[in-house]
Amino acid sequence: MINDQAARLRDISRLKNRADGATTLSPVRRIAITSGKGGVGKSNFSLNLGICFQKLGKRALLIDADTNLANIDILLGISPKFTLADAVLGDRFITEVLFDGPEGLKILPGGSGIIELVGLEQVMQDRLENSMYELEKGQDIVLLDTGAGISEGVVEFASAADEVIVITTPEPTAITDAYAAIKVISARNQAVKFYILVNFARSEDEAREVARNIKLVVENYLAIDIEILGYLPLDTHVQHAVAQQKPFLLAHPRCPASLNLNMIARRLLRLNQPHRPRGSLFRHLFAH
Ligand SMILES: Nc1ncnc2c1ncn2[C@@H]1O[C@H](COP(=O)(O)OP(=O)(O)O)[C@@H](O)[C@H]1O
Ligand SMILES: [Mg+2]
Repeated sequence: MINDQAARLRDISRLKNRADGATTLSPVRRIAITSGKGGVGKSNFSLNLGICFQKLGKRALLIDADTNLANIDILLGISPKFTLADAVLGDRFITEVLFDGPEGLKILPGGSGIIELVGLEQVMQDRLENSMYELEKGQDIVLLDTGAGISEGVVEFASAADEVIVITTPEPTAITDAYAAIKVISARNQAVKFYILVNFARSEDEAREVARNIKLVVENYLAIDIEILGYLPLDTHVQHAVAQQKPFLLAHPRCPASLNLNMIARRLLRLNQPHRPRGSLFRHLFAH
């Protein structure tokens, strides 16, 4: 029964992708931001990366998909009235759920509402499909801020993306957890392109060593490619900006973290990720 539903959804999204491909030259790029260990800076990175993309002339949508600790809204000092669940289970339009963040970045508060969407009835699944299709249509890039760890929900979201940025800190526990996350996500979706990003680095040398070690282990033991995306330094401006509930890129545009973030955003735009036809973002959630 559930498999039937999943198969039907795949058909629907295949048709949609085909129709979309005929009219759009560059389909939306889905980038998930994840980590093994919690508190490594995913939400701050995702939000500020989205803002940076907007500044660089791209249209970006940020989905807050951390089902445990949704906090994009807290980083911005706002409290959204509705979540994605209200659009699918309630009577809200998806456009009412979406809100405009800084620089015109679109933000979809998902949070704990997303977990309610697993195992939906067919009619609701169709509503969700259509909503997501509408949302993605106008975008160049969709960023998915996932939770930490290798729980089912996190892995599902991450493996629904084309590209996955795995964030680690230089701590050994964060590094081993990052490796575990890469292993599980790559087993689920072999086509994902992985990047490693080191946050809280005390120096460029430290960041480079951490990233190289992970790359070596991932390539040797998992036989998959992983690209070193860069690093963000340990920077107290980030903490100050969080305390003020302002994105660090806007509160402190010239601070070390902002400068590196800018380089990373430009680098991601330069890296031309070939797009494969693939299913809807949420189809994975229904397959279980
Ligand atoms: N580069 C950095 N330098 C200093 N502090 C940082 C940096 N990145 C994140 N932080 C701090 O770490 C905390 C956790 O970051 P957050 O983005 O919420 O992590 P996650 O989403 O992975 O749980 C933030 O409140 C912030 O103060
Ligand atoms: Mg977070």
